[in-house]
Amino acid sequence: MRDTLFYRQPEFEIVPMVSDHCAAVATLHAQRFARAWGDGEFVSLLLQPNSFGFVAWQTNTLIFKAPLAGFVLAREVAGEAEILTIAVNDKMARFGLGWRLMQAAMREARNRGGEAMFLEVDDGNAAALGLYRKLGFEKAGERPAYYTDESGRRTSALVMRRDLR
Ligand SMILES: CC(C)(COP(=O)(O)OP(=O)(O)OC[C@H]1O[C@@H](n2cnc3c(N)ncnc32)[C@H](O)[C@@H]1OP(=O)(O)O)[C@@H](O)C(=O)NCCC(=O)NCCS
Repeated sequence: MRDTLFYRQPEFEIVPMVSDHCAAVATLHAQRFARAWGDGEFVSLLLQPNSFGFVAWQTNTLIFKAPLAGFVLAREVAGEAEILTIAVNDKMARFGLGWRLMQAAMREARNRGGEAMFLEVDDGNAAALGLYRKLGFEKAGERPAYYTDESGRRTSALVMRRDLR
């Protein structure tokens, strides 16, 4: 599909997340994670004073009411920022949107006084690990056998960290 003559590279608009986006965010989250969060959970997380997020839509599509392309939700407290969750629509994978959402979150965290950013990732999640390593995150800790996948296999949770200054 991406190699055909008629294929157009998607373009995205990234804007700050507000409560009205949370239903679309919860829908995309449910598509990308085994344990879905309700839109109410997103609203209450977003309304916490230290939280912030960004959402992305494709701008060069003819689809009326195109689904959300991606989102990131984060928080910053006393110099330490944390990625709470991030996802990109699987139809939009590998166009650099995850990278751009992470850049938006890191910039906002820095503006709020963040000195370092942390996140937690399943060590079996190759796409997320690839993204975070490319952004300069490094392993800061590990919780062995923390997750269980559909086949019952146990994987570790890695805690990763990156300086923001
Ligand atoms: C992780 C995720 C957000 C990446 O989004 P994306 O928009 O596809 O990523 P990008 O196009 O910005 O990729 C940036 C870099 O990440 C790495 N990467 C992305 N997808 C990858 C994959 N499937 N395998 C290996 N590396 C990958 C590559 O280094 C890539 O750079 P490159 O394309 O120049 O090689 C997306 O796969 C996703 O939503 N996954 C499901 C939800 C999830 O796991 N969230 C993270 C929980 S911790």
